[in-house]
Amino acid sequence: MHGHYHPIVPEHAALYRVYRPQTFSAVVGQEHVTRTLRNAIANGQVAHAYLLSGVRGTGKTSIARLIAKAVNCPNAKDGEPCDRCENCVAIREGRSLDLIEIDAASNRGIDEMRDLRDKVRFAPSQGDYKVYVIDEAHQLTTEAFNALLKTLEEPPPHAIFVLATTESGKIPATIVSRTQRFDLRRIPHKGVVAQLGKIVEQEGQKAEPAALEAIARHAQGSLRDAESMLDMVIAFADGPITTKEVDDLLGASDWDETAALFDALAASDGAAGVELVGRLVDDGRDLRLFVRRAIEHTRALVLTRATGRVPETVSEQVAAKLRAQAKGLSLDQLAKIAKRLVETEQHLRTSEGTPLPLELAILDLVTSSEKTAPPPETARREPAPPAQRAPTPLPRSDPPRRDPTRAAVVAMADRRGPSSNEPVGARSPIVALDSVRRAWGELVDRTKERSIGKAAQLVKAEPIAVDGATIVIRFGDEFARALWQDKRRSELEQDLSVILSATVHVKCVRQPGAPEVVTATDDPMLRAFADTLGRPDRIMEIE
Ligand SMILES: Nc1ncnc2c1ncn2[C@@H]1O[C@H](COP(=O)(O)OP(=O)(O)OP(=O)(O)O)[C@@H](O)[C@H]1O
Ligand SMILES: [Mg+2]
Ligand SMILES: [Zn+2]
Repeated sequence: MHGHYHPIVPEHAALYRVYRPQTFSAVVGQEHVTRTLRNAIANGQVAHAYLLSGVRGTGKTSIARLIAKAVNCPNAKDGEPCDRCENCVAIREGRSLDLIEIDAASNRGIDEMRDLRDKVRFAPSQGDYKVYVIDEAHQLTTEAFNALLKTLEEPPPHAIFVLATTESGKIPATIVSRTQRFDLRRIPHKGVVAQLGKIVEQEGQKAEPAALEAIARHAQGSLRDAESMLDMVIAFADGPITTKEVDDLLGASDWDETAALFDALAASDGAAGVELVGRLVDDGRDLRLFVRRAIEHTRALVLTRATGRVPETVSEQVAAKLRAQAKGLSLDQLAKIAKRLVETEQHLRTSEGTPLPLELAILDLVTSSEKTAPPPETARREPAPPAQRAPTPLPRSDPPRRDPTRAAVVAMADRRGPSSNEPVGARSPIVALDSVRRAWGELVDRTKERSIGKAAQLVKAEPIAVDGATIVIRFGDEFARALWQDKRRSELEQDLSVILSATVHVKCVRQPGAPEVVTATDDPMLRAFADTLGRPDRIMEIE
């Protein structure tokens, strides 16, 4: 049942897993980290705890595993593991008993930390050291951190702890001070392009250099992101990879985002617009870049509206969207939007990271279009000059609209903490709940291929309502809800949008006391896993 997205989601092992660096010298960038580590290992001066922090997909997990390899490899030279001996191979294949990986994101670690305190005394089985990698370490509960701290205060000589995190600010200072800390950097553009070039060659593919440059620009220093984009493009391209294909594939998501802004403006839905901005901010996106793309989008809409033509460079999918959107916005409105966006771009230059200029622009555009612009259908039927235009009566059949300004202000105040008691179903759904429920089964299947842990959480959740473009999803436990509402939301939104072929947003809620619902899955392993995770003693409070 992978019909919809098959062309862009490859079935084979993801490139970024195949190309995980197996030696320190294969790590791209991060020389300040690998050099220091190799020296320490070569001189037998290994620390007992390391903290690897930095943006996603820059090598934290890879380097953590390399530490385990290097300290346990009998043939290590200058701190570099041989990648051939029994120990190295066991670690590479994920079956070494001396490398213990704990994912703090999927089980917040309290049991593991207690367990660890007991087990840490046992000697390594094959190599010289037992290496404990705690991934997404910032997700540990206070209790788990306390348990870990006890262990770090008196580490057994044969134990090494490696904490990896994207949010080092959330690691307690008491822990940080007991570690040697390395900050991984975004990987330089050149390094990303070179690595993509190598992979293309090893995969027996061909690519225009400019196409790889374009992928690297989209990835913004995350090599994993770059490699998964390359994966998509390879699956999508028939033959050599061209810049046009990259633009079609990766550009489409850019257009989707700006399209969401114009949907909000056309519907005078300030709340949706401000929520969109909130999501971009949460994802750490560059708002000025977004606004510049929105200006491009406005130009494309003006062209479409005025001439009926779409820009030649866009894909069929984007063209269809532009044609539909151009119908909903008058040239007058588009001119206002363009003017305001250009001003906003200027203001964002000096606003020191606050999204306020963009939020205010959206609110102004929404309220001014309420007052002045007639609905576009009426505008087309009445070609009379503006001065003689009769005031347009509001169509009677319109459903009562929320006060857009108030709703938007609420959204601004409420950006991070969604309240689960807000009425749902206030806007007419862009997709039927039934289709969403079907899509959910597909989503679970698809997630399962990437992570059983994630799929186990999703299988216990269910879509309960559709509010405009927002799908409301109920989760059985608070931990899973918070995780998917916050950290993993964009992943969820992206996948659902692909499956449903529509840009949708999600809001994760929890209805306490509601019965557990298990959505369509016949996978016994997944069910069993879901049940384990759902054990009440595993459900933690969010701090
Ligand atoms: N510095 C790097 N050198 C070579 N490959 C890298 C590097 N960083 C990331 N990759 C590629 O991305 C994949 C994922 O990298 P890794 O798991 O180490 O990233 P991470 O920093 O732990 O990311 P996350 O924060 O998402 O856990 C690797 O398997 C590899 O293909
Ligand atoms: Mg990682
Ligand atoms: Zn070895």
